[in-house]
Amino acid sequence: MSTINVAMIGQGFMGRSHSNAWGQVAKFFTPPLKPVMHTVFGQPEENPQAFAERWGWQNASTNWEELVKSPEIGLVDVVTPNYMHAPVAKAAIAAGKHVACEKPIAGTLEDARQMVEAAKAANVKTFVWFNYRRCPAVALAHQMVKAGEIGGIRHVRATYLQDWADESVPLLWRFEKKWAGSGAHGDLNAHIIDMTRFVTGSEIVEVAGAIAETFIKERTLPGQAATGGLGDAAAAGGKGPVTVDDTVLFLARFSNGAVASFEAARQATGNQNRNTFEINGTKGALKFDFERMNELQYYDARRPRAVQGWTTIMCTHGGEYPEGHPYVANWWPDAHIIGYEHGFVNQAYDILRVLAGEEPTVPIPDFEDAYQTQRVLEAALLAAERRGAVSLEDVK
Ligand SMILES: NC(=O)c1ccc[n+]([C@@H]2O[C@H](COP(=O)([O-])OP(=O)(O)OC[C@H]3O[C@@H](n4cnc5c(N)ncnc54)[C@H](O)[C@@H]3O)[C@@H](O)[C@H]2O)c1
Repeated sequence: MSTINVAMIGQGFMGRSHSNAWGQVAKFFTPPLKPVMHTVFGQPEENPQAFAERWGWQNASTNWEELVKSPEIGLVDVVTPNYMHAPVAKAAIAAGKHVACEKPIAGTLEDARQMVEAAKAANVKTFVWFNYRRCPAVALAHQMVKAGEIGGIRHVRATYLQDWADESVPLLWRFEKKWAGSGAHGDLNAHIIDMTRFVTGSEIVEVAGAIAETFIKERTLPGQAATGGLGDAAAAGGKGPVTVDDTVLFLARFSNGAVASFEAARQATGNQNRNTFEINGTKGALKFDFERMNELQYYDARRPRAVQGWTTIMCTHGGEYPEGHPYVANWWPDAHIIGYEHGFVNQAYDILRVLAGEEPTVPIPDFEDAYQTQRVLEAALLAAERRGAVSLEDVK
Protein backbone atom coordinates (compact mmCIF):
# COMPACT_ATOMS: atom_id res chain seq x y z
CA MET A 1 0.00 0.00 0.00
CA SER A 2 1.28 3.50 -0.83
CA THR A 3 1.80 5.86 2.07
CA ILE A 4 1.62 9.61 2.68
CA ASN A 5 3.54 11.42 5.41
CA VAL A 6 1.34 13.72 7.51
CA ALA A 7 2.50 16.78 9.49
CA MET A 8 0.01 18.17 12.01
CA ILE A 9 0.28 21.82 13.14
CA GLY A 10 -1.22 22.27 16.62
CA GLN A 11 -1.87 19.86 19.45
CA GLY A 12 -4.89 21.05 21.41
CA PHE A 13 -8.46 19.68 21.38
CA MET A 14 -8.46 19.06 17.62
CA GLY A 15 -4.84 17.91 17.75
CA ARG A 16 -5.99 15.01 19.92
CA SER A 17 -9.03 14.28 17.79
CA HIS A 18 -7.03 14.29 14.53
CA SER A 19 -4.17 12.24 16.02
CA ASN A 20 -6.75 9.63 16.96
CA ALA A 21 -8.21 9.75 13.42
CA TRP A 22 -4.86 9.34 11.65
CA GLY A 23 -3.95 6.53 14.05
CA GLN A 24 -7.24 4.64 13.68
CA VAL A 25 -8.16 5.08 10.03
CA ALA A 26 -6.07 2.27 8.53
CA LYS A 27 -7.16 -0.09 11.33
CA PHE A 28 -10.90 0.21 10.69
CA PHE A 29 -10.84 1.10 6.97
CA THR A 30 -8.66 0.00 4.08
CA PRO A 31 -7.73 3.38 2.61
CA PRO A 32 -5.94 3.42 -0.76
CA LEU A 33 -3.16 5.46 0.87
CA LYS A 34 -1.84 4.74 4.35
CA PRO A 35 -1.15 7.81 6.51
CA VAL A 36 2.18 7.92 8.31
CA MET A 37 2.05 10.12 11.43
CA HIS A 38 5.36 11.76 10.60
CA THR A 39 5.65 14.97 12.70
CA VAL A 40 3.50 17.01 15.08
CA PHE A 41 4.11 20.70 15.77
CA GLY A 42 3.37 22.28 19.14
CA GLN A 43 4.45 25.38 21.03
CA PRO A 44 7.55 24.68 23.17
CA GLU A 45 5.57 25.12 26.43
CA GLU A 46 3.10 22.42 25.30
CA ASN A 47 5.85 19.77 25.21
CA PRO A 48 5.33 18.43 21.67
CA GLN A 49 7.72 15.54 22.31
CA ALA A 50 5.48 14.15 25.05
CA PHE A 51 2.42 14.66 22.81
CA ALA A 52 4.15 12.81 19.95
CA GLU A 53 5.01 9.86 22.18
CA ARG A 54 1.50 9.61 23.62
CA TRP A 55 -0.32 9.83 20.28
CA GLY A 56 2.09 7.93 18.03
CA TRP A 57 3.74 10.68 16.00
CA GLN A 58 7.26 9.71 14.86
CA ASN A 59 8.72 13.20 15.43
CA ALA A 60 7.94 16.46 17.21
CA SER A 61 8.70 20.00 16.07
CA THR A 62 8.48 23.54 17.45
CA ASN A 63 9.08 25.15 14.04
CA TRP A 64 6.04 24.90 11.77
CA GLU A 65 7.59 27.08 9.02
CA GLU A 66 10.36 24.52 8.50
CA LEU A 67 8.05 21.56 8.98
CA VAL A 68 5.52 22.48 6.27
CA LYS A 69 8.38 22.83 3.75
CA SER A 70 9.99 19.49 4.55
CA PRO A 71 10.33 17.36 1.40
CA GLU A 72 9.29 14.35 3.47
CA ILE A 73 5.78 15.72 4.12
CA GLY A 74 2.87 15.12 1.73
CA LEU A 75 -0.15 16.39 3.71
CA VAL A 76 -0.27 19.25 6.23
CA ASP A 77 -3.10 19.09 8.78
CA VAL A 78 -3.88 22.50 10.32
CA VAL A 79 -5.42 22.45 13.84
CA THR A 80 -4.40 25.89 15.10
CA PRO A 81 -6.61 28.81 16.20
CA ASN A 82 -8.41 30.37 13.23
CA TYR A 83 -6.06 33.31 12.59
CA MET A 84 -3.20 30.87 11.90
CA HIS A 85 -5.10 28.80 9.29
CA ALA A 86 -4.20 31.12 6.40
CA PRO A 87 -0.48 31.58 7.16
CA VAL A 88 0.09 27.86 7.74
CA ALA A 89 -2.07 26.71 4.81
CA LYS A 90 -0.52 29.20 2.39
CA ALA A 91 3.02 28.23 3.41
CA ALA A 92 2.20 24.55 2.99
CA ILE A 93 0.54 25.13 -0.39
CA ALA A 94 3.53 27.20 -1.56
CA ALA A 95 5.67 24.16 -0.75
CA GLY A 96 3.35 21.99 -2.89
CA LYS A 97 1.65 20.14 -0.02
CA HIS A 98 -1.94 19.01 0.19
CA VAL A 99 -3.71 20.68 3.13
CA ALA A 100 -6.47 19.55 5.50
CA CYS A 101 -7.59 22.53 7.61
CA GLU A 102 -9.89 22.82 10.60
CA LYS A 103 -13.07 24.87 10.36
CA PRO A 104 -13.97 27.65 9.92
CA ILE A 105 -11.63 27.81 6.95
CA ALA A 106 -10.30 31.12 8.33
CA GLY A 107 -11.01 33.94 10.78
CA THR A 108 -11.78 36.42 7.97
CA LEU A 109 -13.27 36.25 4.48
CA GLU A 110 -10.13 37.84 3.06
CA ASP A 111 -7.92 35.09 4.55
CA ALA A 112 -10.33 32.48 3.18
CA ARG A 113 -10.23 34.02 -0.29
CA GLN A 114 -6.42 33.99 -0.28
CA MET A 115 -6.41 30.33 0.75
CA VAL A 116 -8.76 29.43 -2.12
CA GLU A 117 -6.64 31.33 -4.64
CA ALA A 118 -3.38 29.81 -3.37
CA ALA A 119 -4.82 26.29 -3.60
CA LYS A 120 -6.12 26.86 -7.14
CA ALA A 121 -2.81 28.28 -8.36
CA ALA A 122 -0.77 25.42 -6.87
CA ASN A 123 -3.11 22.65 -7.96
CA VAL A 124 -2.97 20.87 -4.62
CA LYS A 125 -5.88 19.10 -2.90
CA THR A 126 -7.53 20.78 0.06
CA PHE A 127 -9.99 19.69 2.71
CA VAL A 128 -11.86 21.36 5.60
CA TRP A 129 -12.80 19.37 8.68
CA PHE A 130 -16.56 19.89 8.75
CA ASN A 131 -16.71 16.58 10.57
CA TYR A 132 -20.46 16.50 11.18
CA ARG A 133 -21.04 15.65 7.50
CA ARG A 134 -19.45 12.35 8.38
CA CYS A 135 -21.84 11.29 11.12
CA PRO A 136 -23.67 8.41 9.48
CA ALA A 137 -27.05 9.99 10.37
CA VAL A 138 -26.14 13.28 8.67
CA ALA A 139 -24.68 11.52 5.63
CA LEU A 140 -27.90 9.46 5.46
CA ALA A 141 -30.00 12.65 5.56
CA HIS A 142 -27.96 13.94 2.60
CA GLN A 143 -28.60 10.71 0.70
CA MET A 144 -32.32 10.71 1.52
CA VAL A 145 -32.83 14.31 0.36
CA LYS A 146 -30.93 13.53 -2.84
CA ALA A 147 -33.14 10.49 -3.42
CA GLY A 148 -36.26 12.69 -3.09
CA GLU A 149 -37.50 11.14 0.17
CA ILE A 150 -38.76 14.44 1.58
CA GLY A 151 -39.65 16.14 -1.70
CA GLY A 152 -39.12 19.87 -2.21
CA ILE A 153 -37.65 21.63 0.82
CA ARG A 154 -39.66 24.45 2.43
CA HIS A 155 -38.10 24.97 5.88
CA VAL A 156 -34.61 24.56 7.34
CA ARG A 157 -34.19 25.12 11.10
CA ALA A 158 -30.73 24.74 12.54
CA THR A 159 -29.28 25.40 15.98
CA TYR A 160 -25.88 24.80 17.53
CA LEU A 161 -26.21 25.49 21.24
CA GLN A 162 -23.59 25.10 23.96
CA ASP A 163 -23.44 26.33 27.57
CA TRP A 164 -19.79 26.32 28.65
CA ALA A 165 -18.95 30.03 28.49
CA ASP A 166 -20.04 31.58 31.80
CA GLU A 167 -18.10 34.36 33.63
CA SER A 168 -15.63 31.88 35.13
CA VAL A 169 -14.15 31.04 31.72
CA PRO A 170 -11.04 33.15 31.04
CA LEU A 171 -10.26 35.15 27.90
CA LEU A 172 -9.24 32.17 25.74
CA TRP A 173 -8.33 32.77 22.07
CA ARG A 174 -11.95 31.91 21.22
CA PHE A 175 -13.08 35.22 22.78
CA GLU A 176 -10.72 37.47 20.82
CA LYS A 177 -11.48 38.65 17.29
CA LYS A 178 -7.81 38.88 16.32
CA TRP A 179 -7.34 35.14 16.98
CA ALA A 180 -10.82 33.71 16.28
CA GLY A 181 -12.47 36.08 13.76
CA SER A 182 -15.84 35.67 15.50
CA GLY A 183 -17.24 33.82 18.52
CA ALA A 184 -20.10 31.30 18.61
CA HIS A 185 -20.76 32.36 15.02
CA GLY A 186 -17.57 31.06 13.35
CA ASP A 187 -17.28 28.25 15.85
CA LEU A 188 -20.84 26.88 15.72
CA ASN A 189 -22.88 28.55 12.96
CA ALA A 190 -20.07 27.52 10.58
CA HIS A 191 -20.94 23.88 11.29
CA ILE A 192 -24.71 24.22 10.79
CA ILE A 193 -24.32 26.35 7.67
CA ASP A 194 -22.06 23.67 6.20
CA MET A 195 -24.30 20.83 7.38
CA THR A 196 -27.51 22.31 5.95
CA ARG A 197 -25.80 23.20 2.64
CA PHE A 198 -24.64 19.58 2.52
CA VAL A 199 -27.97 17.97 3.45
CA THR A 200 -30.16 20.21 1.27
CA GLY A 201 -27.73 20.34 -1.67
CA SER A 202 -28.66 24.01 -1.96
CA GLU A 203 -26.84 27.34 -1.41
CA ILE A 204 -27.82 30.22 0.86
CA VAL A 205 -28.52 33.25 -1.34
CA GLU A 206 -29.67 35.84 1.20
CA VAL A 207 -29.39 36.62 4.90
CA ALA A 208 -32.64 38.42 5.64
CA GLY A 209 -31.72 39.62 9.12
CA ALA A 210 -29.45 38.82 12.07
CA ILE A 211 -28.80 39.53 15.75
CA ALA A 212 -25.33 39.29 17.33
CA GLU A 213 -24.89 39.74 21.09
CA THR A 214 -22.02 39.59 23.57
CA PHE A 215 -23.33 39.07 27.10
CA ILE A 216 -20.03 38.89 28.94
CA LYS A 217 -17.98 41.87 27.85
CA GLU A 218 -14.70 41.19 29.67
CA ARG A 219 -12.95 38.13 31.01
CA THR A 220 -9.94 37.26 33.13
CA LEU A 221 -6.64 37.10 31.23
CA PRO A 222 -5.46 33.51 31.45
CA GLY A 223 -1.73 33.68 30.74
CA GLN A 224 0.06 31.61 28.15
CA ALA A 225 -0.38 28.07 29.43
CA ALA A 226 -4.15 28.04 29.00
CA THR A 227 -4.11 29.53 25.53
CA GLY A 228 -1.49 27.44 23.74
CA GLY A 229 0.92 30.39 23.86
CA LEU A 230 -1.45 33.17 22.84
CA GLY A 231 -1.90 34.84 26.23
CA ASP A 232 0.17 37.69 27.57
CA ALA A 233 1.95 36.09 30.56
CA ALA A 234 2.73 39.44 32.18
CA ALA A 235 -0.93 40.44 32.19
CA ALA A 236 -2.33 37.16 33.56
CA GLY A 237 -4.92 37.71 36.28
CA GLY A 238 -6.13 41.08 34.97
CA LYS A 239 -9.19 41.55 32.75
CA GLY A 240 -9.43 41.98 28.99
CA PRO A 241 -12.28 42.84 26.60
CA VAL A 242 -14.25 40.14 24.77
CA THR A 243 -14.23 41.17 21.11
CA VAL A 244 -16.48 38.46 19.61
CA ASP A 245 -20.14 37.44 19.86
CA ASP A 246 -21.55 35.02 22.45
CA THR A 247 -24.53 34.34 20.19
CA VAL A 248 -25.63 35.00 16.60
CA LEU A 249 -29.10 34.28 15.19
CA PHE A 250 -30.02 34.82 11.55
CA LEU A 251 -32.73 34.18 8.97
CA ALA A 252 -31.83 33.09 5.45
CA ARG A 253 -33.11 31.97 2.06
CA PHE A 254 -31.77 28.99 0.10
CA SER A 255 -31.53 28.91 -3.71
CA ASN A 256 -34.13 26.11 -3.76
CA GLY A 257 -36.70 28.53 -2.29
CA ALA A 258 -36.54 27.23 1.28
CA VAL A 259 -36.49 29.65 4.21
CA ALA A 260 -34.16 29.01 7.12
CA SER A 261 -33.24 30.01 10.65
CA PHE A 262 -29.85 29.55 12.32
CA GLU A 263 -28.85 30.03 15.95
CA ALA A 264 -25.44 29.60 17.59
CA ALA A 265 -24.88 30.17 21.31
CA ARG A 266 -22.31 29.47 24.01
CA GLN A 267 -24.50 30.27 27.00
CA ALA A 268 -27.70 28.37 26.10
CA THR A 269 -28.01 26.76 29.54
CA GLY A 270 -29.19 23.18 29.32
CA ASN A 271 -27.68 22.53 25.90
CA GLN A 272 -24.18 21.11 26.07
CA ASN A 273 -23.48 20.35 22.41
CA ARG A 274 -26.89 20.58 20.81
CA ASN A 275 -26.11 20.64 17.11
CA THR A 276 -29.47 20.18 15.37
CA PHE A 277 -31.39 20.56 12.15
CA GLU A 278 -35.00 20.03 11.17
CA ILE A 279 -35.83 20.07 7.47
CA ASN A 280 -39.45 20.06 6.31
CA GLY A 281 -40.20 19.03 2.75
CA THR A 282 -43.34 18.50 0.68
CA LYS A 283 -43.20 14.71 1.11
CA GLY A 284 -41.59 14.35 4.52
CA ALA A 285 -39.20 15.76 7.08
CA LEU A 286 -35.90 14.97 8.80
CA LYS A 287 -34.55 15.85 12.25
CA PHE A 288 -31.06 15.43 13.71
CA ASP A 289 -29.62 16.23 17.13
CA PHE A 290 -25.92 15.54 17.73
CA GLU A 291 -26.59 14.77 21.40
CA ARG A 292 -28.27 11.63 19.99
CA MET A 293 -25.91 11.35 17.04
CA ASN A 294 -26.60 7.73 16.10
CA GLU A 295 -30.23 8.53 15.31
CA LEU A 296 -32.01 10.28 12.45
CA GLN A 297 -35.71 11.17 12.77
CA TYR A 298 -37.76 10.71 9.60
CA TYR A 299 -41.39 11.67 8.97
CA ASP A 300 -42.92 10.18 5.83
CA ALA A 301 -45.86 12.36 4.80
CA ARG A 302 -46.71 9.96 1.95
CA ARG A 303 -48.11 7.47 4.45
CA PRO A 304 -51.86 7.64 5.27
CA ARG A 305 -52.50 10.46 7.76
CA ALA A 306 -53.80 7.93 10.31
CA VAL A 307 -50.34 6.37 10.64
CA GLN A 308 -48.07 9.31 9.99
CA GLY A 309 -45.49 9.92 12.71
CA TRP A 310 -41.81 10.39 13.42
CA THR A 311 -39.66 7.29 12.95
CA THR A 312 -36.38 7.01 14.83
CA ILE A 313 -33.79 5.44 12.54
CA MET A 314 -30.82 3.89 14.34
CA CYS A 315 -28.08 4.71 11.83
CA THR A 316 -25.81 1.80 12.62
CA HIS A 317 -26.56 -0.69 9.85
CA GLY A 318 -23.62 -0.83 7.46
CA GLY A 319 -24.17 -0.80 3.71
CA GLU A 320 -24.93 1.30 0.67
CA TYR A 321 -28.05 3.51 0.63
CA PRO A 322 -30.91 2.53 0.67
CA GLU A 323 -29.95 -0.77 2.30
CA GLY A 324 -27.64 0.63 4.96
CA HIS A 325 -25.80 3.57 6.44
CA PRO A 326 -22.52 5.07 5.30
CA TYR A 327 -19.26 4.33 7.19
CA VAL A 328 -20.71 2.00 9.82
CA ALA A 329 -19.91 -1.25 8.01
CA ASN A 330 -16.33 -0.50 9.09
CA TRP A 331 -17.26 -0.03 12.75
CA TRP A 332 -19.45 -2.26 14.87
CA PRO A 333 -22.58 -4.47 14.53
CA ASP A 334 -26.08 -2.91 14.50
CA ALA A 335 -26.83 -0.59 17.44
CA HIS A 336 -23.29 -0.88 18.80
CA ILE A 337 -23.19 2.88 18.67
CA ILE A 338 -20.40 5.23 17.64
CA GLY A 339 -19.30 8.61 19.06
CA TYR A 340 -17.76 12.01 18.38
CA GLU A 341 -14.33 10.78 17.32
CA HIS A 342 -15.68 8.46 14.62
CA GLY A 343 -16.67 11.38 12.38
CA PHE A 344 -13.03 12.42 12.26
CA VAL A 345 -11.83 8.90 11.43
CA ASN A 346 -14.47 8.73 8.67
CA GLN A 347 -13.21 12.06 7.34
CA ALA A 348 -9.57 10.90 7.42
CA TYR A 349 -10.67 7.91 5.31
CA ASP A 350 -12.35 10.14 2.72
CA ILE A 351 -9.35 12.52 2.62
CA LEU A 352 -7.12 9.55 1.81
CA ARG A 353 -9.54 8.36 -0.89
CA VAL A 354 -9.58 11.78 -2.56
CA LEU A 355 -5.78 12.03 -2.36
CA ALA A 356 -5.61 8.67 -4.15
CA GLY A 357 -7.95 9.93 -6.90
CA GLU A 358 -11.08 8.15 -5.64
CA GLU A 359 -14.53 9.58 -4.85
CA PRO A 360 -15.27 10.25 -1.16
CA THR A 361 -18.15 8.34 0.48
CA VAL A 362 -20.21 11.58 0.49
CA PRO A 363 -19.06 15.00 -0.76
CA ILE A 364 -16.18 16.48 1.24
CA PRO A 365 -15.62 20.24 1.49
CA ASP A 366 -12.46 21.69 -0.06
CA PHE A 367 -11.32 25.30 0.41
CA GLU A 368 -13.66 26.55 -2.34
CA ASP A 369 -16.64 24.83 -0.70
CA ALA A 370 -15.73 26.09 2.79
CA TYR A 371 -15.36 29.59 1.31
CA GLN A 372 -19.09 29.49 0.49
CA THR A 373 -19.82 28.81 4.17
CA GLN A 374 -17.47 31.67 5.12
CA ARG A 375 -19.42 34.04 2.82
CA VAL A 376 -22.62 33.18 4.68
CA LEU A 377 -20.89 33.81 8.03
CA GLU A 378 -19.74 37.19 6.75
CA ALA A 379 -23.19 38.06 5.36
CA ALA A 380 -24.79 37.31 8.73
CA LEU A 381 -22.33 39.55 10.59
CA LEU A 382 -22.96 42.34 8.07
CA ALA A 383 -26.73 41.86 8.43
CA ALA A 384 -26.43 42.16 12.24
CA GLU A 385 -24.29 45.28 11.93
CA ARG A 386 -26.57 46.95 9.35
CA ARG A 387 -29.83 45.68 10.86
CA GLY A 388 -30.97 44.70 7.38
CA ALA A 389 -30.87 42.08 4.66
CA VAL A 390 -27.63 41.13 2.86
CA SER A 391 -27.56 39.38 -0.51
CA LEU A 392 -24.79 36.80 -0.96
CA GLU A 393 -24.20 38.43 -4.36
CA ASP A 394 -22.66 41.33 -2.44
CA VAL A 395 -20.34 39.20 -0.30
CA LYS A 396 -17.46 37.84 -2.35
N1 LIG B 1 -14.35 20.30 13.82
C1 LIG B 1 -14.73 20.60 15.05
O1 LIG B 1 -15.77 20.16 15.51
C2 LIG B 1 -13.89 21.51 15.89
C3 LIG B 1 -13.97 21.47 17.30
C4 LIG B 1 -13.13 22.31 18.03
C5 LIG B 1 -12.26 23.17 17.39
N2 LIG B 1 -12.22 23.20 16.02
C6 LIG B 1 -11.28 24.09 15.30
O2 LIG B 1 -9.96 23.58 15.45
C7 LIG B 1 -9.01 24.63 15.54
C8 LIG B 1 -8.21 24.47 16.81
O3 LIG B 1 -9.10 24.48 17.92
P1 LIG B 1 -8.75 23.71 19.26
O4 LIG B 1 -10.01 23.62 20.03
O5 LIG B 1 -7.99 22.46 18.97
O6 LIG B 1 -7.79 24.78 19.94
P2 LIG B 1 -6.76 24.57 21.14
O7 LIG B 1 -6.60 25.90 21.81
O8 LIG B 1 -7.15 23.40 21.97
O9 LIG B 1 -5.39 24.20 20.39
C9 LIG B 1 -4.79 25.10 19.51
C10 LIG B 1 -3.39 24.62 19.15
O10 LIG B 1 -2.88 25.54 18.19
C11 LIG B 1 -1.51 25.74 18.37
N3 LIG B 1 -1.19 27.16 18.22
C12 LIG B 1 -1.62 28.19 18.98
N4 LIG B 1 -1.10 29.34 18.52
C13 LIG B 1 -0.34 29.02 17.45
C14 LIG B 1 0.48 29.77 16.57
N5 LIG B 1 0.59 31.08 16.69
N6 LIG B 1 1.13 29.12 15.61
C15 LIG B 1 1.01 27.78 15.48
N7 LIG B 1 0.27 27.04 16.29
C16 LIG B 1 -0.40 27.64 17.26
C17 LIG B 1 -1.14 25.25 19.74
O11 LIG B 1 -0.18 24.27 19.50
C18 LIG B 1 -2.41 24.64 20.30
O12 LIG B 1 -2.18 23.35 20.73
C19 LIG B 1 -9.83 25.93 15.47
O13 LIG B 1 -9.82 26.39 14.15
C20 LIG B 1 -11.24 25.50 15.86
O14 LIG B 1 -12.25 26.30 15.27
C21 LIG B 1 -13.00 22.38 15.28
